Amino acid sequence: MLTPPLAHLPPDLVSAADYQRYAAQHMDANARAYVDSAAGDELSHAANLAAFAHYGLDTQVLADVRGGHCRSELFGLHLSHPVLLAPVAYQKLVHPDGERAAAYAATALGSSMVVSTLASTSLEDIAAAAQSPLWFQLYWQHDRAWVADLLYRAEAAGYCAIVLTVDAPLAGVRNAEQRAGFALPDAVYAANLAGMAAWEPRLAVGQSMVFDGLMAVAPTWADIAWLREHTTLPIILKGILSCRDAQRALAHGIDGLIVSNHGGRVLDGVPASLDALQRIAGVVQGRVPLLLDGGIRRGSDVLKALALGASAVLIGRPFIHALAVAGALGVAHLLRTLQEELEVAMALTGCRTLADITQEVLWSAHEA
Ligand code: FNR
Ligand code: LAC
Repeated sequence: MLTPPLAHLPPDLVSAADYQRYAAQHMDANARAYVDSAAGDELSHAANLAAFAHYGLDTQVLADVRGGHCRSELFGLHLSHPVLLAPVAYQKLVHPDGERAAAYAATALGSSMVVSTLASTSLEDIAAAAQSPLWFQLYWQHDRAWVADLLYRAEAAGYCAIVLTVDAPLAGVRNAEQRAGFALPDAVYAANLAGMAAWEPRLAVGQSMVFDGLMAVAPTWADIAWLREHTTLPIILKGILSCRDAQRALAHGIDGLIVSNHGGRVLDGVPASLDALQRIAGVVQGRVPLLLDGGIRRGSDVLKALALGASAVLIGRPFIHALAVAGALGVAHLLRTLQEELEVAMALTGCRTLADITQEVLWSAHEA
């Protein structure tokens, strides 16, 4: 039996892990298979979670951190803490208010949300539910007119950045979803794409669904210039893991990068995004902001990501669990909890502001 969303938070719900535990009672098997699964043997997802434990923290006692805060500004957003909601498709799978509740909670808490092309609510309705601007995540479509239209709609609705996801031109091999026979219920669909003609590749005998089908309509570096012509908003690439791709992105004038392996959901075997971050930060040298997602579960994880070069981080599954458990209240409480954990970690490592967070806060940096 599914438990309806909670209107009051029980006292033993105090961390992202608690939300994950509670979510098992608030999500059906179909939704759990979609949200919690990752690609293949789920090695990259496990690596994301494990990567943070490799770094210890180095405390600084008797530090004067009075007046400290974790505020920052990023692509037109004034953030009261550097934890954003990652783009996650089909949020009505876990709560009837879906994306509107998540966007409301994030913006009420001084954060923001990256709205997926595959949201189950229209981008306009999500923007209307939010208290401050959002970012729009673009999945390229086979029909360019639709891509242009999505860009136009996002700008008209007040979105302040475009996040082009580049690591998922095709869906990963998600065995857990396959085994569970995951399917979207009729009431949950990609609202932004309603009315778009379904795309079925016409393959000749011997042609490959991957190379001649999906990859034949996927964007390439050549499309970045087209994208630039069709939006005035900053363009951020999501799903960068290699220094080579980071350098190419800079050469193409990209405004920001999200170091991410898509929560391990696309290609199993790629490194933990935290491990990729440090190398990419070395190449980018602060020329554009770097964000990170994948495996953030604690405020101390946020501190570690910032120490290794991120300006901000995003969370995926944790806020979906919180949404399932208690709707907007759950998402707001989770964000508040992560902010408090981050503030504790900053204060005890002697950091008054985000600018004070360097590799000095990491224990391993001293051992080397
Ligand atoms: C995602 N992610 C994702 N990314 C994206 O660019 N567009 C999308 O529509 C989705 N959809 C989506 C659905 C679900 C159920 C999950 C769990 C994830 C990836 C997401 O933005 C992010 O990269 C990861 O979720 C980060 O890892 P954690 O925080 O879940 O460990
Ligand atoms: C996913 C796609 C929608 O990870 O990005 O499920």
